[in-house]
Parts: sequence; C-alpha cells; structure tokens
Amino acid sequence: MNAEEMVKNMTLEEKASLTVGSDFWNFVEIERLDLSRILVTDGPHGIRKQKVLGEEMGSGESVEATCYPPACLSSSSWDTSLVEKEGEAIGKEALAEGVSIVLGPGANMKRSPLCGRNFEYFSEDPFLSGKIAAAWINGVQKRGVGTSLKHFAANNQERKRLIGNSVVDERALREIYLAGFEMAVRRSQPWSVMCSYNMINGKYSSDNKWLLSDVLRDEWGFKGIVMTDWGAMNDRVEGIKAGLDVEMPGPDKANVDAVIKAVREKRLSEEDLDKVVLRIVETMLRARECKRNITYDKKEHHEIARYIASHSFILLKNEGLLPLDRKKSYAVVGEFAKKPRYQGSGSSRINSNYVDCPYDELVKAGYDVSYASGYSLAVESADSLLNEAVCLAGEKDAVIVFAGLSEESESEGFDRSTLSLPSSHNTLIESIVKVNKNVIVVLYGGSPFSMPWLADVGSVLLCYLPGDAAGEATVDVLSGEVNPSGKLAETFPLSLEDTPSYGNFSTSDNDVLYKESILIGYRYYDYMKKDVLFPFGFGLSYTDFSYEAIEMEFDDDKKMGTVRVKVRNTGECAGEEVVQLYVEKLKSRIFRPIRELKGFRKVFLDKDEVKTVEFHLDERSFSYYSVPLGRFDIEDGEYRIYAASSSRDLRLSVDIHVSGNISPEVMSWRIGDDFSLLFKDKKVPLSPDRSRLSVNSSLSEVMENRNAYEAFKPLIDSYVKPFEGRNDGMSRMMLAMAMDMPLRGASVMTGAMGIDEIKEKLETLN
Ligand code: BGC
Repeated sequence: MNAEEMVKNMTLEEKASLTVGSDFWNFVEIERLDLSRILVTDGPHGIRKQKVLGEEMGSGESVEATCYPPACLSSSSWDTSLVEKEGEAIGKEALAEGVSIVLGPGANMKRSPLCGRNFEYFSEDPFLSGKIAAAWINGVQKRGVGTSLKHFAANNQERKRLIGNSVVDERALREIYLAGFEMAVRRSQPWSVMCSYNMINGKYSSDNKWLLSDVLRDEWGFKGIVMTDWGAMNDRVEGIKAGLDVEMPGPDKANVDAVIKAVREKRLSEEDLDKVVLRIVETMLRARECKRNITYDKKEHHEIARYIASHSFILLKNEGLLPLDRKKSYAVVGEFAKKPRYQGSGSSRINSNYVDCPYDELVKAGYDVSYASGYSLAVESADSLLNEAVCLAGEKDAVIVFAGLSEESESEGFDRSTLSLPSSHNTLIESIVKVNKNVIVVLYGGSPFSMPWLADVGSVLLCYLPGDAAGEATVDVLSGEVNPSGKLAETFPLSLEDTPSYGNFSTSDNDVLYKESILIGYRYYDYMKKDVLFPFGFGLSYTDFSYEAIEMEFDDDKKMGTVRVKVRNTGECAGEEVVQLYVEKLKSRIFRPIRELKGFRKVFLDKDEVKTVEFHLDERSFSYYSVPLGRFDIEDGEYRIYAASSSRDLRLSVDIHVSGNISPEVMSWRIGDDFSLLFKDKKVPLSPDRSRLSVNSSLSEVMENRNAYEAFKPLIDSYVKPFEGRNDGMSRMMLAMAMDMPLRGASVMTGAMGIDEIKEKLETLN
C-alpha cells in the first residue's frame, strides 16, 4: 500500500494518533497497516541514542558513538565536502543504531558570542551557515537516514528559550534569521524541520502558519515533515492548520483527543489533518527503505573525526613558533593537555567511543615534552599548580599552554555572561609569558572569548571543540603534519559592549528585541567601523597566498555572474586557502550592511602552485529583502565584488553595474532609529500578558506563587526535583529546561498531570 492508500484506509483515531510521538524518541506505529514506528535521536555531531529509551526525560545514558567536531569547528573548515563526509559518517552510525532521523543540524544564527548553544551552531553568517548545513544534511541523507533541521526559527539564546518572544523585523528575519534555513531547505530537502520553542513576534513557532506553511513549504518548497522541539507544542489543533506534523515527545493523549474532537466538531477539516498524516506516513515509509543491521568501523570513524578537526582548526597568530621544532624542549601546561574540552553540554552530548589527548600524542610523536597542569578543572584556583607550571616553563625552550572555556560555561539551557576565560587560565598564561618568551597557546571552547595576553604570546591555535580525536588532531597541526586551513565563521569581538545585541541579549525580559535588525556579526562591526580582536573569515596558514587576478563575466538580464580569482601559494609548503567573495553595493540609498559574503571556496595549492578559483553569483547575491514589495529585490547601481582572505583582508575587486529598481517605498530606517518603525502599525509585537497564570506559564513562574506551587506540585516533583542538587552538566541543563518549561510542556514531558487537570487548577487559581 502506498502512503495515500494508507491514509485513505485510516480511521480518524489512527490519523490523530500519528500526530503525536508514541514516547520520547519514537513515532507511533499502526500495526494493522504494517506501518512501523521510527526512531529519532540527537544529533547533531554524532548519535545520542539513549540506552534506556525515555529514561530521565530524555537525559539518560546513551550508547557509545563517535563525537565528530561540533558545528562551531566543522563550519570553520569552510569546506562543504568535509562537512558532507561528517554527515555520511553520522548517517552510517545512525543506520547501525536503527535510527531513522538524526535531530540536526542546528542552523540558528550566532547573534551573540554568549549564546550557550553556539557550539552547536555554524556561523554568524546565513550564507555560510546555510551552505554548511546543506552539506551536512546531504551527507546524512545519502545514507538513507533523515535529518531534522533545527531550531526553526529565531532561537538565538538559551535564556527563556521555552517561553521567550524573539521580536525581529521581517527584513532581518528574511535576510538573516531565516536565510540559512532557506538555503539548507532549497539545497538539501531535509526529511524534517524541527520548530523552535520560542515565539516570533508574539506567535509560537509550533502553530505559526506563516512560518511553517507560507514560508517554509509554499515559498521554499519544503516537502518533509515539521516536528516540534521537545515539549514545544503550543496548540495541537492550530498546529495542524499551520502545518506542524508531529508533536514530540509523546504520548500526549489529550492532544490526540483534541484533534479527534476538533475534526468531529468541524473546527479542523479532515483534509488539513490528511495533509499532515500523509506527510508523516511518507516519511515513515521512506525510513522503511533504510538498510539496517550494518556495522561501522570505530577506528575508521575516529580517523574521519580527526581529519575534519585538523582541517578546521584556526591559526590565529604565529610568530614562528609553529610548527613545533623537534630539537626543542617544551613545557606542556594546562590540564586541557590531558583532558581536552572536546564537546559541549546538553542534548547533543555524545558518549564517546574513545577520546585521545594532546599530551599523550605529543609524547607518541617523539617530542621532548614535560607536563604540569597549571590549573585544576576541579577547583577555582590552585597556587601550587600555577607555581609548578611557571617553574617548568622557565626551564624549557618553549611552552605550549592549553587553555579555554570551561565545561560548565557552555551548555544548552544557559547563556554565558562574560567573554572572559576562567581566571586561572588567564593567570597561567600571564605568569608564563614572564618567564619564557616562546609561548604557544592552544585554545578549546565553543565560542569567542577575550585574550588579554594576546600581544605577549608567540602563537595561538584555536581548536574550538574538536570531538573525539582532540589529541591526535591538535598534534597533527602543531607538528605541521597538517597545515592549518580553518577560518573563523564568526567574529571575535574586543569587548562585550561592542557586540551588536549588547543590552538586548539574554536579559531577564521575556521579549528579546533584535534592535540591531540585519546587522549581525561582521555586518555590524563593519557598519559601525569597530575594531575587532579577529575578524570573520580570518585564519593563518604555515604558508602564504597571493591573490593575483580577478575577472568577472556578468549577464545583467539573467543576473548571473561568474567570478574567477587567481591564487598562488607563495610560501614554503603546500596548504589550503579559503577564498571568500564579498559583495558591496556602492553608494547604497538604503540601510544595508557594507558588504556581505556571497561565495567561498577552499582550494589546495602545492608550494608555488597557481590555481584559478571559480564562483557563481546569482540574483540573491545582490538582493535585499524589500518589506513593501514582500520579496527580495535588487537596488539598481554599481556593485563591487571583492576576493578576500578574510572579511577585513580584501585583496582584489571588480566593479559591475546591476540593473534593478530603486523602490520609492524602501525604508529610510537606520540603526539607532525607533525600533517600532520596523513593524506593522509601528507596534512592537511583544509577548502576551503573562500576569495571569496560564498553560503557557513556566514552572519557575508557577513556583513563585505559593498556591500555584501547591497546585502543580506533582509536575514540580517529577520534573524539577530529580535534577536539583545534581552537579553533572546534563542535570544542570535539565533543571534549567524544567524551570523554563510551560505547564503544557511539563505535562507532556512528565505525564504527572493531565492538561485538563492543569486547566481546572488554573481556573481555581485565577
Ligand atoms: C533540544 C533539541 C533536541 C531535543 C531532543 C531539546 O531540548 O532543544 O535540540 O533535539 O531536546 O533531545
């Protein structure tokens, strides 16, 4: 029976049952029709399949798997074929584990360097993020396994992520916050998209018809299913009308019944339900085609993780100390040398097959190294460890310091509050430079941080979070076995005050105002002419590249262009360069970023080799989103195309004329103007009044009210209490999530109180 026939054969009850998961990780099955359940699991940089499905509300121990470089690092490769390989390997592990859909990739924009989940996201630039996301999806799906592009959309901070309202003007949504998703959908057709928890302009994503149907399906041509993030379903019936297919997790009998009732009472048409059910059945049948019972070679997959990591690390500074010199003696300091940070915390956390460490690999590679921990990952500061490391450093030719962000500071559920590294790490580096002039710093961490000691050290290698092969990959680059070729997929700012969302990010307010509009990341720093610590697109190599020529052919009628850039390796060894293409509108009459990334390509060049790299530009490369016209449009005039080695290292350029419109209604808004002018009727779409308790009140809001606390004690006891006082990362994240969870979501996550009982209690309380 094909999908359509199956749907025709289903009873209303069967159809409704499919719109909610059967448990934490499975879709519902219908035995009568031989429609088997399918298993979905996290994602995104490896498989997190729980050993006991459903245990601890999805946070229980998971099977062993390879932890590949998380998105913060893999995107720094700027290499779509490499990311596709990561996807293929993950797809294979998914098959081996019987997983039908991997919950990833995360394509949210990095609006602030402080977002606790930035390590799971690719970039501050939607073009780069979209291309990398598409490559990852294509890789996984090549194996016949599905993906779930998440978290759609405007989920750019962790604080209040379950109840917050992202207030974003339409142009910023279209050009920035939706654009990466759009590119990924158009280029890779993920099997599914996961909607975000938050509201966008006062409307929850889970029943937002404009988002899920008008934009995602009708405009972008998305063919798959939309599932909710875990516990994100606002109104199940409205969700069906909006195009939300599967509520996760399940079971949620109340919502299944609500769907049946709505159809019977003709508040929901059966045709709308059928559309949703057909998409679900098509996906389940597709999953049936997967090859099962395969195995994978753990060693081989470890090597893939190693290769991707070493080809993504970013050399930020090098005054001749790297690659390492076998004739020199090195002090290796910092506990990260033995226990590297290699992944972040939360739902993406992998139970790694095997993690190697830099110190052991340095020893294996035959370097003359001696170790001192310098700081402790367990305690705040330890003078004795610091002194021991400084003594050792003074005795050796050079020092390799391992430092970075702590495990606790980077997790789903929380945002950071500072750009600083732990003070023990900064103190260690600052003390060591006083006794040894040859200091190499190796850094781990999932997002930007400040480097107060930068001018005093010789070399800096940024490894972000490298995944399982942390040690081998780090030593591959330190030794010169691999020439570093990563480039920053985000700006490292000089200070928090400099960041575009400063003052409007992760505040105690439920409304998150995106007052910087389209100026995210380098778009903001360039527009505001701000200096940065390291610009977007920056990264050094052990060799040098010169950009020798640029030429462009452009067909103005078709708005299609081909740009050719000649690049030469002028240094002493082979290497890879990421050639970047930025487009700038000269003398623009509208508010727009100075220039934007519209192409990139990584190219391998032997010593002395010259290659011509080709790029294709299209209509979108020159467009901005015109709100009055309701579509992307081109401003008539001159455009400059730059070939660049980073967003602030523009090497060559060519000018062209692009004919377009100068729409008289284009807005005159500039950054700093009244934010409300960006919205319909000049009204900022704030979240609904929360003063009265409702099913959308969070457990923390409930816990502030004595009577409400008592009324909803079963939810609090089963969701909040189990995670209180536990110190592991997963429990801390679960606690943050529980506190933020609306009553409706807590009901589904715990099953401790039904929604009808909750509604009755609310009536009494209000
Ligand atoms: C996260 C998702 C994840 C899901 C299942 C949610 O809390 O936001 O990214 O896929 O849990 O673990």
